Amino acid sequence: MSVVRVAVCGTGSFGRNHLRVYRELEIAGSPVALVAAVEPHPGRAAETAQKYAIPVFGAAAELLATDLAIDAASVAVPTVHHHAVALELLEAGIDVLVEKPIASSLAEADELIAAAERGARILQPGHLERFNPAVLAIEPRLRRPMFFEAHRLSIFTPRALDVDVVLDLMIHDLDIVLRFANSPVREVRAVGLPILSAKVDISNVRVEFESGCVANFTASRVSTERVRKLRFFEPARYVSVDYARQDLLVIEVDPAVAAKVMAALAAGVVGGAGGFAAAEAEPHPTAGMSFLKPEVTPGEPLRLELESFLESVRTRKEPHVTARQGRAALELALEIQKSTEAHARRAGLNKG
Ligand SMILES: NC(=O)c1ccc[n+]([C@@H]2O[C@H](COP(=O)([O-])OP(=O)(O)OC[C@H]3O[C@@H](n4cnc5c(N)ncnc54)[C@H](O)[C@@H]3O)[C@@H](O)[C@H]2O)c1
Repeated sequence: MSVVRVAVCGTGSFGRNHLRVYRELEIAGSPVALVAAVEPHPGRAAETAQKYAIPVFGAAAELLATDLAIDAASVAVPTVHHHAVALELLEAGIDVLVEKPIASSLAEADELIAAAERGARILQPGHLERFNPAVLAIEPRLRRPMFFEAHRLSIFTPRALDVDVVLDLMIHDLDIVLRFANSPVREVRAVGLPILSAKVDISNVRVEFESGCVANFTASRVSTERVRKLRFFEPARYVSVDYARQDLLVIEVDPAVAAKVMAALAAGVVGGAGGFAAAEAEPHPTAGMSFLKPEVTPGEPLRLELESFLESVRTRKEPHVTARQGRAALELALEIQKSTEAHARRAGLNKG
């Protein structure tokens, strides 16, 4: 395949970004051509047709009924329709990047995975934070994360209300922590409340993994500020990832100094009137710490994601984020929903 011919299904607030990036790649000389879109909303369809000079169809079936050749497609329709649209495309022999979450139930996700495997198609879920340059920079340096704090807060906008905040926002952090913790989930405890929509708008979750690793997640779409941060602790190391700023901070403790502090603690010489600094000949308890800012090459995560998808389409290599990983993130999100419902029953939140 010399040039990958792509279509975008769903040209709403996020699908527009897929259109833009494919066209930018095309203009920059990448072997890709944006050739069609699918959008049932007449106004959006007309706008897309005019802006990108491509045919826009009202439904995927209409596109597939033409003799227009399509190799790959982005599916950026509301989550409740991911399954129907992605399945139709996969069964027509098209490689698919389906926005996150991969589908709205495990049965739907399984059907998509089976269809992709049957037809030897690429199926990549749109977990775009995996392509955040800060995540790409820290991933190869992971040691043994044992405690995570994830915060993803956004200001309310009336979008993605077909799903709760767990499937809308927290799913990004669930995917990353599942990858970083690399251990099966042992226990989930969750609380969540609807605030402005009919579904849970703010959620706090504690996940414990078989390895003993623990992760706390907070996601809100009714916040007064925007925060997208992941912090985690490994033995003698703290890492802070700021997704929005594409920034990393790593604080490491020199093991020799840490051992001295521990010995002083055991001997009861730390925490007294003068603390460690007075009891020992050390200048300061933070003397053995290094504050590092690993280099992060900035880049637009969506562009990196779509470039990676197109490379998989061309080379047939497994996507950087696999459909099974998308399924695992969905499975955890659904467990969180169950735990949230159980908590609401215990707290009597479901009554009137
Ligand atoms: N990766 C991310 O960071 C990110 C960010 C935002 C949204 N998303 C995902 O993108 C998807 C779309 O979200 P959005 O905020 O753009 O929603 P949106 O409602 O703004 O846009 C969805 C569009 O899909 C169209 N549509 C509906 N049914 C369709 C169908 N059967 N075929 C083709 N088009 C159809 C709608 O008319 C609408 O224009 C969701 O799954 C959401 O989770 C991902």
